[in-house]
Amino acid sequence: MFTPEIEQQLIETAIAARAHSYSPYSEYKVGAAALGGSGKIYSGCNVENASYGLSNCAERTAIFTAIAAGETKIKALCVAAKVSNPCGACRQVMMEFMAGSSPVTTANVDDETGKYRLQRFTLADLLPRAFDPKKAGL
Ligand code: THU
Repeated sequence: MFTPEIEQQLIETAIAARAHSYSPYSEYKVGAAALGGSGKIYSGCNVENASYGLSNCAERTAIFTAIAAGETKIKALCVAAKVSNPCGACRQVMMEFMAGSSPVTTANVDDETGKYRLQRFTLADLLPRAFDPKKAGL
């Protein structure tokens, strides 16, 4: 069950993960937290590269970390940044492991005060008419 307490843990994990962001090029710190099917929470941050296109977003880092640890499904995800809004590539990666009805929470963090503003979506809100491997029979 996705309780308010679990959502709060995801939010705090995503915000804390920003501290590990490797973003010397954009200086844009992003953190994410993915709730695995087992109930464990996995964190991720953006990891940039001098060859810019190789950079990995925080959301994908968190999801790939969960999958590499043996999870097969992601139940919910939170992303935290100054202005957080998952990119198209991350939305498609979410679709691979999450149901369309899964909650995705974004936290817009004010670094001056530490306060944050939340917005709540489902994955289907973020990626309407998605290429869904489950529906495609893949
Ligand atoms: N970024 C993320 O990690 N997640 C998002 O949702 C949007 C963008 C990263 C990519 C890059 O390292 C930096 O933020 C600026 O685009």
